[in-house]
Amino acid sequence: MTNPSPKLALAPMEGLADDVLRDVLTRAGGYDWCVTEFIRVSTTVLPHSTFTRVSPELRTSSRTRAGTPVRIQLLGSDPGLLAANAAHVSRLEPAGIDLNFGCPTPLINRKRGGAALLNEPELLHRIVSQVRAVVPAGIPVTAKMRLGISDTSKAIDCACALADGGIQELVVHARTKEDGYRPPARWHLVAAIREAVAIPVIANGEVWTVSDYQAIRDITGCRDVMLGRGAVADPLLAQRIRSGGGQDPIAEWQTVAGMIIDFWTQVQNKVLPAQAPGRLKQWLGLMRKSYRQADDLYTALRELRMTNDVSAALRRHLAE
Ligand SMILES: Cc1cc2nc3c(=O)[nH]c(=O)nc-3n(C[C@H](O)[C@H](O)[C@H](O)COP(=O)(O)O)c2cc1C
Repeated sequence: MTNPSPKLALAPMEGLADDVLRDVLTRAGGYDWCVTEFIRVSTTVLPHSTFTRVSPELRTSSRTRAGTPVRIQLLGSDPGLLAANAAHVSRLEPAGIDLNFGCPTPLINRKRGGAALLNEPELLHRIVSQVRAVVPAGIPVTAKMRLGISDTSKAIDCACALADGGIQELVVHARTKEDGYRPPARWHLVAAIREAVAIPVIANGEVWTVSDYQAIRDITGCRDVMLGRGAVADPLLAQRIRSGGGQDPIAEWQTVAGMIIDFWTQVQNKVLPAQAPGRLKQWLGLMRKSYRQADDLYTALRELRMTNDVSAALRRHLAE
């Protein structure tokens, strides 16, 4: 049997990678699937409208315009309630249901969500087994975890609990909750998790370039990788990984410029005019690292508040 080809996933990023950015990034190509921002499950079974608001892709067979599958991410700590929500969203036939055990946000953690559960492998096991039991077999149930809360001593127990509970794949963000987003990521610990479980482990954390991609695969031994901020900072990163390296920088910027215009059009259709410029500046702010032209554009837009002014500045800069 031949080895399946390496898979690349676009990470869930609440407040950043919404349906608009997922659409634009997956159209550039290279991704096998993406994941929605987390949907918090705390007291009730959420209406279908909550799921379709976060993932309008549910109306198009749970795929982005490019055809990339979109998995729905749930966050919570009550096994029964998570299972009830998973069963309910399953009727909309999502491409997968992912469970969040990595969110480090204090407000979420105080309410026992995300990474706060990483000291309780038995609870993780109960959550995933109850969710798996009610989700139709054709819909993958997956999970995403960090290495622990303040230390990594329970990382393998948590990963085994999740795998034994019946998930199909496990994404490991190679940091503890207390590490926040500080580099470096602890890729070598992902290798130990990969060796401990029989399901595919997807490595995640601090992949900004093609050489980071090669390094995370070498060190973790994982075939598959999930890209987060690096995918936003360099919208051609997945494509660059697939094609194995450098292309013509001028042609690349023209491609990125087209993506920026597409994003701007879609964002204006989605959010209030007062919010749209901020969304574009947020993306350009991250892209400044990778493209000099994005830095220039960011500087030109920084003080602008009105959508008309932003559109005019984009026309001036991107026509040059
Ligand atoms: C702005 C932002 C929002 C995030 N939101 C989520 C989320 O909703 N669910 C989740 O599992 N991880 C979330 N993450 C974590 C990322 O999915 C990823 O694990 C992390 O950024 C490390 O990968 P990277 O170094 O490639 O960015 C978020 C990260 C960022 C930066």
